[in-house]
Amino acid sequence: MELNTLHELYVDELKDLYSAENQILKALPKMIRATTHPELKNAFTDHMKQTENQVKRLEHIFADLDESPKGKKCHGMEGVLEEGAELIKERPAADVLDAGLISAAQHVEHYEMAGYGTVRTWADKLGREQDARLLQETLDEERKADELLTKLATQSINIDADREVELSTASETDSKPRPKPKAAKAPQPSTHL
Ligand SMILES: [Fe+2]
Repeated sequence: MELNTLHELYVDELKDLYSAENQILKALPKMIRATTHPELKNAFTDHMKQTENQVKRLEHIFADLDESPKGKKCHGMEGVLEEGAELIKERPAADVLDAGLISAAQHVEHYEMAGYGTVRTWADKLGREQDARLLQETLDEERKADELLTKLATQSINIDADREVELSTASETDSKPRPKPKAAKAPQPSTHL
């Protein structure tokens, strides 16, 4: 595809976002299965429904442009999602995994926010008011999803993750070697018979 005009660049970036959203739709079920945190599971499930709607918005814009949404792979999103998949494969402790999943999801949201902010601005410049409105709706949803993830990270999950690390460093049954905290006490003799 030639990229000589802002219109062509606009269509190209929309294709990139269409690829990104479809990759997210494939990754979210794995993230939903991976977390045991009910609020995070809900947040991912809700965002999956939103993402389906965001794909429809893009399809609406492509139909109006008389262009195909296909033909491009978003390599940036592929890399971001691959990092999340690697984390799940590492099988960290549940609370640590949740903190990592939030981080992965926030990387996704920020990548999308950059893309949607750009195409919304270009839609304005190109005089495509309806596109701009639809793209702004998606941008607002991504922002809200990101804010919810920040709330979960600060109010519960990262605090739980601290507790998990303390518990696992104190556990003699934990097989994974972990660094000892500076103020770690010497192991106490067992009181069990
Ligand atoms: Fe999205």
